[in-house]
Amino acid sequence: MRVLLTGHQGYLGTVMAPVLAAAGHEVVGLDAGLFADCVLGLPPADPAGHRVDLRDITAEHVAGVDAVIHLAALSNDPLGALAPDLTYDINHHASVRLARLARDAGVRRFLYASTCSVYGAAGGDDLVGEDAPLRPVTPYAESKVRVEDDLHALADGDFSPVFMRNATAFGYSPRLRADIVLNNLVGHALLSGEVLVLSDGTPWRPLVHAADIARAFAAALVAPREAVHDRAFNIGSETNNVTVAEIAEQVAEAVSGARVVITGENGADPRSYRVDFARFRTAMVEGPGFDCEWTVKQGALELADAYREHGLTREGFERRFTRLAVLRAASEAGTVDETLRWRR
Ligand SMILES: NC(=O)c1ccc[n+]([C@@H]2O[C@H](COP(=O)([O-])OP(=O)(O)OC[C@H]3O[C@@H](n4cnc5c(N)ncnc54)[C@H](O)[C@@H]3O)[C@@H](O)[C@H]2O)c1
Repeated sequence: MRVLLTGHQGYLGTVMAPVLAAAGHEVVGLDAGLFADCVLGLPPADPAGHRVDLRDITAEHVAGVDAVIHLAALSNDPLGALAPDLTYDINHHASVRLARLARDAGVRRFLYASTCSVYGAAGGDDLVGEDAPLRPVTPYAESKVRVEDDLHALADGDFSPVFMRNATAFGYSPRLRADIVLNNLVGHALLSGEVLVLSDGTPWRPLVHAADIARAFAAALVAPREAVHDRAFNIGSETNNVTVAEIAEQVAEAVSGARVVITGENGADPRSYRVDFARFRTAMVEGPGFDCEWTVKQGALELADAYREHGLTREGFERRFTRLAVLRAASEAGTVDETLRWRR
């Protein structure tokens, strides 16, 4: 298949592009390149792609494409809180526009990178399935719910949107993000000797390795249409349904000499959900099959090794690999305008 991969220069896209290529697909990227230089280790070999803002795409960008994997977004809660209007413009309106253009161009499958944070304040210890009520508590999560609703309305006999609700990612990517919980805790532990938890440690935070997300998308791309058409799937594994305190313990075991410090200064986090991941595993049985390969502990060890090998610095940790800090710095330097478009 010829696959348009938006967000191919992000944390997940950089891991996903080679997985898709290895599966025999022709990958075409599309990214504004906001974090293209946020590299730890060797620069990745990106597929050919369009350097364009999602809000400015045209029918040309989707012409001749068989499937779209749509990752590009302002990708977390702090970014959403910084600029809720921009989050809705990029994450919601531009995503729906992309889907319409794709459908008009005859694209048959549209895999959308949603998130388990659509469950928001699910609370409790029960497993949350895909049919559970959606209770987003941030503009970021709300933008994902709106896209799911609008893409659902576009589904028809020829166009199959699929809602991939990813757990919180972890693991090494050449385009690192240090602002997601496991990656953050490992980096902090290496740099300071402390696994620093600012919440009270009790929220459930299901995790999934970036490479397992990539394999899940690759599986959904070729699964029989009836298995995935217009369906939502939680992406992750029950093994990695962990509390923040448990994640911290795993990190302390992976980084020798580090000790867990739970300050609780940010209080209880309303985002707490424990997720049921069976639907995707079951849906893939008739197709390529899928199960996650990475545990939290393996991911912590992998990251600690990668951070040591490539020389993670405090500057990298706090600025280069923290999405909000990168965009703030670009804005202050005047390289992007107030709408986060590059100034020419
Ligand atoms: N990483 C996670 O834990 C996680 C979990 C659940 C869902 N997701 C979703 O997966 C997707 C990818 O996440 P990620 O961690 O790789 O994020 P990321 O921030 O590393 O990558 C996002 C990419 O989108 C691009 N982008 C942003 N705004 C754009 C615009 N206006 N035009 C063109 N490109 C633009 C950025 O340049 C970047 O390369 C996102 O949609 C995110 O919401 C991520």
